[in-house]
Amino acid sequence: MSNILIIDDEKSIRKTLSEILSYEGYKIDEAGDGEEGLKRFREKTYEVVLCDIKMPKLDGIEFLERAKESNPDVPIIMISGHGNIDTAVEAVKKGAYDYISKPPDLNRLLITIRNAMDKTNLVADVKVLKRKVGKVDEMIGDSSPIKKIKDTIDKVAPTDARILITGENGVGKELVARWVHEKSNRAAGPLIEVNCAAIPSELIESELFGHEKGSFTSALKQRIGKFEQANAGTLFLDEIGDMSLNAQAKVLRALQEGKITRVGGDKDINVDVRVVAATNKDLLKEVDEKTFRLDLYHRLSVILIHVPSLNDRKDDIPLLVDKFLTDVCLDYGIAKKGIDPQAIDGLKEHDWTGNIRELRNVVERLVILSGKNITVEDVSAYVLPKK
Ligand SMILES: Nc1ncnc2c1ncn2[C@@H]1O[C@H](COP(=O)(O)OP(=O)(O)OP(=O)(O)O)[C@@H](O)[C@H]1O
Ligand SMILES: [Mg+2]
Repeated sequence: MSNILIIDDEKSIRKTLSEILSYEGYKIDEAGDGEEGLKRFREKTYEVVLCDIKMPKLDGIEFLERAKESNPDVPIIMISGHGNIDTAVEAVKKGAYDYISKPPDLNRLLITIRNAMDKTNLVADVKVLKRKVGKVDEMIGDSSPIKKIKDTIDKVAPTDARILITGENGVGKELVARWVHEKSNRAAGPLIEVNCAAIPSELIESELFGHEKGSFTSALKQRIGKFEQANAGTLFLDEIGDMSLNAQAKVLRALQEGKITRVGGDKDINVDVRVVAATNKDLLKEVDEKTFRLDLYHRLSVILIHVPSLNDRKDDIPLLVDKFLTDVCLDYGIAKKGIDPQAIDGLKEHDWTGNIRELRNVVERLVILSGKNITVEDVSAYVLPKK
């Protein structure tokens, strides 16, 4: 169901619009002035906003400007009274999707909303497509650990050597895996990812190796597993430290013999797969605790790549911030914001337990909440110190 926000200080207008649109199957929220409207707009994603022009506290144009800063993709339709058609036209120039006049004509209202929704869907589609055709994100940083990692990738990617990538949450392990695939001779083949932590242990075997129809109660159809899907490409076993011992034994066999058997099947199937694994756990400790097989550890860790925590390479912060500012502002469809050197220094002082993922989120928050230029005050206000 699509959400619509109606902002108007006249209760009767809100009520009429709300009744009509609810009847059409939309879900409606109301706000009585621009300030309340903005609050709601920031809290929830709406498909369309209807906004009056003359209102107390924050008027329609001001609402429009601020809303566009916080999410430029949501179409905003202005509702204009007799006296302010000119202002409505001005609003459209400033990025409003369209305007309708009071009292609203029912047909025109519904058509305008429908068209606006189509636009929202198109924008969303384009974003998904961009992501799909998008090349692998650049690996930013010129600190010596990052240089070393890039060097290692260049050397080992073209071989079929198995790689174990270690590092804390959000340091960029997956990015390393993507680059290994991209720079390998298998780049034209598939890169198949399995998040071992996300799959219940009783399903992991069928996920990895597939199953034959009827091999267990819920196996209604034959299924091709990830090993087979990754044939001629790379299989990325993410969070390998969370794989059950049972599944580990099966994976070991697949690696040793280059063959798999589907669950419930009796045929051996040859697979040509390069395995790259990642974990944020200390696998040797897991080996000590008997939750990880030593033989599998050796098979997986022909090449070890450790990705350091962001706290250990704070010199990369300026470059990373610059990159994320570019990306985030592009995503939001706004001009790239600047950042003061003192603000960067402020960011360097933060304890980045969430690593690069946290830094990206912080930059996004700063872009949304700050003015054209991000200051050290913004950093102290919006980047909360760790307790
Ligand atoms: N060196 C880098 N340059 C630019 N972006 C990076 C870099 N490293 C990581 N990122 C970005 O940071 C985010 C987190 O990276 P990634 O998902 O690879 O981390 P991870 O180590 O796999 O995390 P987790 O352990 O939580 O799965 C991603 O959006 C990624 O593109
Ligand atoms: Mg990951």
